[in-house]
Amino acid sequence: MNYRHAFHAGNFADLQKHAILIALLAALTADETPLSVIDTHAGAGAYDLGGDMAQRSGEAAAGIGKLLAAKNAPAVFAPLVAAVKALNGGGEGSLYPGSPLLIARSLRKTDRYVACELRPDDFDSLRRSLAPYPFAQAVRDDGYATAVAKAGKGGQGGGRTFVLIDPPFERSDDYAQIVATTKAVLARDSQAVIAAWMPLKDLETFDAFMRAMETVTRDALAAELRLRPLADPMKMNGCAMVMVGAPRSAEAAIAEVTTWLAENVGDAGAKARIWRA
Ligand SMILES: C[S@@+](CC[C@H](N)C(=O)[O-])C[C@H]1O[C@@H](n2cnc3c(N)ncnc32)[C@H](O)[C@@H]1O
Repeated sequence: MNYRHAFHAGNFADLQKHAILIALLAALTADETPLSVIDTHAGAGAYDLGGDMAQRSGEAAAGIGKLLAAKNAPAVFAPLVAAVKALNGGGEGSLYPGSPLLIARSLRKTDRYVACELRPDDFDSLRRSLAPYPFAQAVRDDGYATAVAKAGKGGQGGGRTFVLIDPPFERSDDYAQIVATTKAVLARDSQAVIAAWMPLKDLETFDAFMRAMETVTRDALAAELRLRPLADPMKMNGCAMVMVGAPRSAEAAIAEVTTWLAENVGDAGAKARIWRA
């Protein structure tokens, strides 16, 4: 496991994933039903964009750097910007929150959150990040297996389940694992909401993934953020969030996030495509 999210924290892909994550959680916590969240690939919890890894990649400058400097950013990004500011003591600073802090900030004390991370160094940082949140638990376990084992537990207690799947895609079977995990989670809890992030490199890989998803659910929503034409499969030409059971009330926010990013951080000809399979 060589992947370190610290190289990529705060990049355009994090902005799409994190702003959509916050919008989904806002919709799922709009009533009093308790929510059980499983974050299969949690990472370190928070990142220092002034650190060596982030500085070497320079990706954050083209992502959160542009969002913070933008005069036209829509209100849908306000909760993410507020989370960044809160982590930096209310002002400007170099810290950027990962999915664990964004989830923990969005939940209520009656909700539950399990964050999975396998790398020992990132796990230590994750545990420290989540320490102030008594309803959150960091586990050093495989995220796919944990999601399947925990799904349905919220349902039994009358609550809902939300699963975020955000693998590093270092292994070629991550696409198949997302499909298999979605199938197994839905078998245990047909009402579960699932959101999976993935890179967009070439169209064939994404199309094959969506066709496989259609064999396990009839309720997939894809938000594609194409920064440039998907011509060079060796490059990350964009990214996508694919969601199952996404609340209809979150759809406008999902579209707004993806469209603004295409228009403001993409190349000329960048595109947002929001569609239901
Ligand atoms: C893309 S990063 C996660 C970023 C995080 N979700 C965020 O938005 O801040 C993926 C993480 O998954 C971890 N990882 C890889 N395979 C895993 C597995 N099977 N179970 C749990 N964590 C895993 C990696 O060590 C890495 O830190």
